[in-house]
Order: sequence, then C-alpha cells, then structure tokens
Amino acid sequence: MSKLLRIGVLASGGGTNLQAIIDRCMDGTLAAEIAVVITNNPGAGALDRAGKAGIETLCINHRNFSQREDFDNSVVKALQDADVDLVVLAGFMRIITQTFIDAFPERVINIHPALLPAFPGLHVQPQAIDYGARFSGCTVHFVDGGVDTGPIIMQAVVPVLPDDSADTLAARILEQEHKTYPRAIQLIAEGRVRVDGRQVIIEPACPPALTSLVNPSIDG
Ligand code: GAR
Repeated sequence: MSKLLRIGVLASGGGTNLQAIIDRCMDGTLAAEIAVVITNNPGAGALDRAGKAGIETLCINHRNFSQREDFDNSVVKALQDADVDLVVLAGFMRIITQTFIDAFPERVINIHPALLPAFPGLHVQPQAIDYGARFSGCTVHFVDGGVDTGPIIMQAVVPVLPDDSADTLAARILEQEHKTYPRAIQLIAEGRVRVDGRQVIIEPACPPALTSLVNPSIDG
C-alpha cells in the first residue's frame, strides 16, 4: 500500500467538514490519515469528533497570544511536529499570516461557503441571499496571502431558493462541502494537483462538468 497523505486539520466550529474527511478516511475513499486536529476554540465540536475517532487533538487558543504571528508560529510548530504533508482549513475562522503560508507552500487548502470570487470573508450565506444571487455554492482553494483569494481547485453550485433563510442555504451548501472537500484532498493525495499561476491543473484530468444550470428554470 502506498503511503497515506498526512493531513493536519484546523477547525474552529462544529466540525462537520472534519467529520466528512474522517468518514472518507475510514471508508477508504480518501487515502489520507489525519495526524492532528488543531482548534483555536476550546468549545469547538470538532474536538469531540476528532476525539471519538481517536485522532490527536490540540487546542491553541488565539486569545492567549497578543500577536497574530506568535499564534501562527505555535500552530505551524504543532503541524511540523505532527509531520503533516497538507494543512486543511475546515471552518477555521482565523486569517493566517504569510509566515504560516511560507511554512507550507502550496500545501494549505481551505473550503469557503460561496462561489469565489463572489462573497469572500465571513457570514457569506446571508450576503448571497441579500444580494439576490440565484446560485451559490462552495469553493475548495489553495490559501495564499489574501482572504479567500487563492487558486481554485474545485467548486460546487447550489441554487438559492425563494424561501431560503441563511440556515437553509448554508445547509444546502454544506451538503456539497462534505462531498467536494474529501474529493479535492484525494486528488492531492494522488499527486494529481499542481498550481500554475491562478490555474490549478489536475492531471490526469477529471471529467469536466458538462451541465449548465439556469435558476429559475426556463422550463416553466
Ligand atoms: C463551513 O461552511 C465552511 O465552509 C465555513 O465554515 C463552516 C464550517 O462548518 N468556513 C468559512 O466560512 C471559512 N471562512 P463545519 O465546522 O461544520 O465544518
């Protein structure tokens, strides 16, 4: 059996993306092992999920650091100690510094609950509704020095429905997050992903999506 990709997952919240990654590692569709789960939030549900799966956890509370760099250095050291190949941000609600990115060049990925470059930043599901967007979705991307600006690996699209609340839209997006994030990590584990400027090249290529979507439907 070839070596499993060692990943470090950073999460601040409930950890449903972490759970999806754990589940895919367990059922063998993701050839990775989670070396460590790190949170900045002592109350993160992600800690329980990792604990139940027998994964090493670490809480590094950002409130104990006066400088962002010091917090990042501490997280970077923990990830290096765990000897991770890839850093996976899964609902990690801290902006990471260039020092962090330099420690893991093209080895930090994030999932964002919108179709970037639309709606970067926080609380984006209500923004998509307020804007009147007809579609939203999720984006898996490499992390660069900006906020949600790095090269895009994979996106999934969902419709925004007339009676959506932020919660119903977030749930519809989350369902896609749970499918796309493990799949994107698997492509990296297979060594099929490289970055060329803004383009992410996948070789051998995955079949492209060939369906166009119109919302509301033109058939009615
Ligand atoms: C997910 O929707 C993720 O895309 C988002 O936080 C949620 C975490 O859910 N991430 C961001 O907004 C990053 N800026 P989870 O804890 O259940 O995985």
